[in-house]
Amino acid sequence: MGSASAEMGFARFLLILLLLSLLTTTSTAQSFKCSSPASCSALVGYAPYNATTLSEIQSQFNVKKFHSLLGANNLPLSTPRTYSIKSKQTVKVPIPCICYNNTGVSNKVPIYTVKKDDGLYFIASTVFSGLLKYPQIVVANKIPDKDKIDIGQKLWIPLPCSCDEVSGEKVVHYAHVVEAGSTVEEIAKRFGTDSQTLLSINGMANDSQLMADQSLDVPLKGAFQFVAEFF
Ligand SMILES: *[C@@H]1O[C@H](CO)[C@@H](O)[C@H](O)[C@H]1NC(C)=O
Ligand SMILES: *[C@@H]1O[C@H](CO)[C@@H](O)[C@H](O)[C@H]1NC(C)=O
Ligand SMILES: *[C@@H]1O[C@H](CO)[C@@H](O)[C@H](O)[C@H]1NC(C)=O
Repeated sequence: MGSASAEMGFARFLLILLLLSLLTTTSTAQSFKCSSPASCSALVGYAPYNATTLSEIQSQFNVKKFHSLLGANNLPLSTPRTYSIKSKQTVKVPIPCICYNNTGVSNKVPIYTVKKDDGLYFIASTVFSGLLKYPQIVVANKIPDKDKIDIGQKLWIPLPCSCDEVSGEKVVHYAHVVEAGSTVEEIAKRFGTDSQTLLSINGMANDSQLMADQSLDVPLKGAFQFVAEFF
């Protein structure tokens, strides 16, 4: 007696650990906090795997107006649609953001059509340059088996975003994919904010929680007026 129930207790303990770790992996799978039900414009930092053009990026992210893509990148309105973007060059892409249940996601866009030999991991980490993790595509599209997607299937790619004000100020939230070796301070400096703000809106206690390849919520102040007028 005792041993069987102890074993069961242990099994249950392992199961809970497993569930907790699954939950933490999906929650560090980068949802951005977005507290009130709201919608707004936001930005994501997209670094294409292959060289491409602004026009292809516009179509991949279903950006309605080419001008909003130019505005987000401080490019003159005369810039041609064929303007080339190098492999791994980061482009700011405007997305419509909607907040629901304390999480912000791109509102029903982008829609990605599955191609031959695609897998969800590849779509999240390569096609959308790691802006989100593949379990978020699974959840958003209620995919029953993550290893089974069909060519031609349309997937909603729920990119992370937020509409929250920061310290009582309107900002544009920018999803930045963290490079290996970055620090919170360096990222804050690069985007004109401060470490404490970055840590707090991303729910982190300190630098040690910053991980390479995570999407970090970066509030951009100056960009607000400029981006807003193009939507
Ligand atoms: C809202 O989020 C909480 C915690 O993340 C989750 O438990 C709950 O099921 C969500 N509710 C809805 C309606 O999605
Ligand atoms: C990049 O280009 C190569 C060669 O054309 C192609 O096989 C690959 O699928 C492309 N990758 C992405 C993410 O589009
Ligand atoms: C960073 O935060 C974690 C908890 O979130 C804590 O365990 C760790 O000691 C902190 N590190 C420093 C250097 O403060």
